[in-house]
Amino acid sequence: MSATSEVNEKMSGASLEEQKMSLNDDDAGDVVNPWNVSSQSQTGIDYNKLIKRFGSSKIDTELLDRIEKVTGRPVHHFLRRGIFFSHRDLHSILTMYEEKKPFFLYTGRGPSSEALHLGHLVPFIMTKWLQDTFDVPLVIQLTDDEKFLWKDLTLEEANRLAHENAKDIIACGFDPAKTFIFSDLDFIGQCPQFYHNMCRVQRSVTYNQIKGIFGFGDSDHIGKIAFPAVQAAPSFSSSFPFIFGGRKDVPCLIPCAIDQDPYFRMTRDVAPRLGFPKPALLHSCFFPALQGAATKMSASDPNTSIFVTDTPKQIKTKVNRHAFSGGRDTVEEHRRLGGDCAVDISYQYLTFFLEDDARLEQICADYTSGELLTGFLKKELIDVLQKMLAEQQERRKAVTDDTLKLFMTPRPLTTRFC
Ligand code: TRP
Repeated sequence: MSATSEVNEKMSGASLEEQKMSLNDDDAGDVVNPWNVSSQSQTGIDYNKLIKRFGSSKIDTELLDRIEKVTGRPVHHFLRRGIFFSHRDLHSILTMYEEKKPFFLYTGRGPSSEALHLGHLVPFIMTKWLQDTFDVPLVIQLTDDEKFLWKDLTLEEANRLAHENAKDIIACGFDPAKTFIFSDLDFIGQCPQFYHNMCRVQRSVTYNQIKGIFGFGDSDHIGKIAFPAVQAAPSFSSSFPFIFGGRKDVPCLIPCAIDQDPYFRMTRDVAPRLGFPKPALLHSCFFPALQGAATKMSASDPNTSIFVTDTPKQIKTKVNRHAFSGGRDTVEEHRRLGGDCAVDISYQYLTFFLEDDARLEQICADYTSGELLTGFLKKELIDVLQKMLAEQQERRKAVTDDTLKLFMTPRPLTTRFC
């Protein structure tokens, strides 16, 4: 296998320049990379095209059936509804599990805002389900270094946000016996084995490759160029000797939004050369902004998203005022032609957070037929979100500095495997 095989698997023969183009744009104007996601279409990114472009695999019914068979549990609605829609090597992870061999989960967050919004919760909700279902260790990387390098933040501020965000993450319900959360700025200097793996990755990737994968240019500072090795290192069990006792062969599964895939294409490419298993991946689609899938959630405009700290009243106002409607201009027209669930943001949000399949299906049918108006969908969404965030806020209140310290202390974890 050539050194760049995985990186190039989706576009063999393409020049680096072409790879960069295809990384940043497709013919429909969809842009997907770790720093930029945008679509020209009101229905958002074309995910089937993205699977082809990235060379990943679709999560199909056969895979879903296998997960249910192996775990003896119904799959999470994020999987059932195609919110997590793509994967790499999930079959191998299931085989390991069947053979009672260990694996671990790895996910992360770049702490760039004070509080998480609904979209940020998606990978953590999925990860919690995977942790509960498979009973495996979980590591969560907070890339405060990344946010320092990319945003106008001081190191101290980025590090503070990492700790704030860790509390929101803990409030998703992770089990402290099975979960290690770390800030890069705090942890890497304390763990030589982690730094060793960063160095190993850095020596294995050339500047040309990094330019091809991430589109970095000549005037990008070298911090950016070195960073992908930091996000790669947690994929390897030997980076956490206090959890895995020095074993370097425990494979990992990474639930993440698909914009993070370039980091892990690079990681999968170098892993065999370092004698490590390739990380498996589970990719989610993007969470749309309130104003619609063709617009962006913006940290500087609080009306584009709902934050975990929003009050019941703020939730209501934001949904009522800003959630893009798939309804018609007049009630008469709506009754005659019906609404469009594919663009209606209240409906889209319900597919993420309304767990009852039968009710969701009924809502979709009645909105499409014109029987239900957008106001009904908004009301339903407001109820669901107010309840969900009230629970999240209760759990967050219970997270003390001691809880945070517990999760963030390097220590052995207790699961079925260790
Ligand atoms: N780069 C990610 C972000 O900006 C953070 C991150 C680090 C991450 N490691 C990860 C995300 C692993 C998903 C999986 O949000």
